[in-house]
Amino acid sequence: MTPKSVQLTAGTQTLDMPVKEGSIGPAVVDIGKLLSKTGMFTYDPGFTSTASCESKITYIDGDAGVLLYRGYPIDQLAEHGDFVETCYLLLYGELPTKAQYDDFNYRITRHTMVHEQMSRFFQGFRRDAHPMAVMVGSVGALSAFYHDSLDISDPYQRMVASIRMIAKMPTLAAMAYKYTIGQPFIYPRNELDYTSNFLHMCFAVPCEEYKVNPVLSRALDRIFMLHADHEQNASTSTVRLAGSSGANPFACIAAGIACLWGPAHGGANEAALKMLEEIGSVDRIPQYVARAKDKNDPFRLMGFGHRVYKNYDPRAKIMQRTTHEVLKELGIKDDPLLDVAIELERIALHDDYFIEKKLYPNIDFYSGITLKALGFPTSMFTVLFALARTVGWIAQWAEMIQDPAQKIGRPRQLYTGAPERDYVPVSTRR
Ligand code: SDX
Repeated sequence: MTPKSVQLTAGTQTLDMPVKEGSIGPAVVDIGKLLSKTGMFTYDPGFTSTASCESKITYIDGDAGVLLYRGYPIDQLAEHGDFVETCYLLLYGELPTKAQYDDFNYRITRHTMVHEQMSRFFQGFRRDAHPMAVMVGSVGALSAFYHDSLDISDPYQRMVASIRMIAKMPTLAAMAYKYTIGQPFIYPRNELDYTSNFLHMCFAVPCEEYKVNPVLSRALDRIFMLHADHEQNASTSTVRLAGSSGANPFACIAAGIACLWGPAHGGANEAALKMLEEIGSVDRIPQYVARAKDKNDPFRLMGFGHRVYKNYDPRAKIMQRTTHEVLKELGIKDDPLLDVAIELERIALHDDYFIEKKLYPNIDFYSGITLKALGFPTSMFTVLFALARTVGWIAQWAEMIQDPAQKIGRPRQLYTGAPERDYVPVSTRR
């Protein structure tokens, strides 16, 4: 039974802190009065026990391995829906009717082109720039082009900015890819669906017709669905914090992309594939597992472990099935990297260290094998994660803007630096 309040005894006083319950999942203790009543802060580096906001968008049960988008289980959505439907659901809270879907899809389709000067913006990058560096720069630069959707107090402009972000991310991602391989940019095609359009912009060339493989497009569309949102993860929290200052949505998404790039977060899909390539063969797995367990070795099994999931990441299971589907469609009978991944997972899941620390494969463990098979270079893996996560960032940003409890995010600290002291003239310093 959840208590109505929690008492905190600090010295001679007892503070009664109200408890707020959600619809499902852990309740929260409202500590808003803690500083004024006790003169103390809470201390929770990494926010392992801290709810930063109230949200209705995504729910994760880490122990049960459950992920719900607006209450719908991810496996059901991945089985029966598509990414555009998932975008509508995350943004508006309900599954769209056919008419709502068609209107939403039409609006996205007609925002897929970027300002023509953006292509000149790309010319400023070196060809060997990491595509994530290009994405941070180009998405941030959108605020230099779309002045008519920067007023965050205007619901219409917020909606236009949201549609623009969702629509233009595939175009910018494809441009980032084409730029690194020295091929001309390919314009979006309005007759193609969202994910087929992206594949066409990545792999078509002006010299010949490019037919998108519908099985591969469906697989990538499902991968986008799996990556669409994930509660208050590091990059989403970055977007919310940036947005809490009133920054425009394009700048906030650019901040989210920067955070996602880290190997502990979205960069793990790139790092996981590089790790599998470094391991190279099944017989070399034990030495890497030993390194992952060695406290003195910074090496970690990339694609394993999660702050919230202390069970199998439900997305990883669907990801694994999609990997087999893509390899089968491409006629890839045996992929040595997949063999290493499957054996590494088997060993880790039977090893006491991983069992005790509840380390399971996460979404990044299998995604790299699939994306490589689809034809993407490793450097594009996190770009695809950012493409898919944009709708989650935008939905969370919009929820934050409309939250009556919202104020600028401004955490405090435990100060352990020098107490106040007087200035010492340089002539007397030793
Ligand atoms: C994503 O938050 C999200 O929702 C993120 C995400 C999303 O959709 O937005 O799900 C996407 O970022 C998935 C995670 C991708 N990152 C990786 O695969 C990188 C490898 N994993 C780890 O770096 C780690 O597991 C984290 C960062 C994912 C989680 O770290 P935590 O929650 O801070 O846990 P921790 O680092 O404190 O680890 C707990 C223990 C530690 O041992 P002790 O200090 O307690 O002895 O487990 C160990 C860690 O050393 N550990 C690992 C490990 N992950 C954690 N040991 C070996 N290999 C690993 N992968």
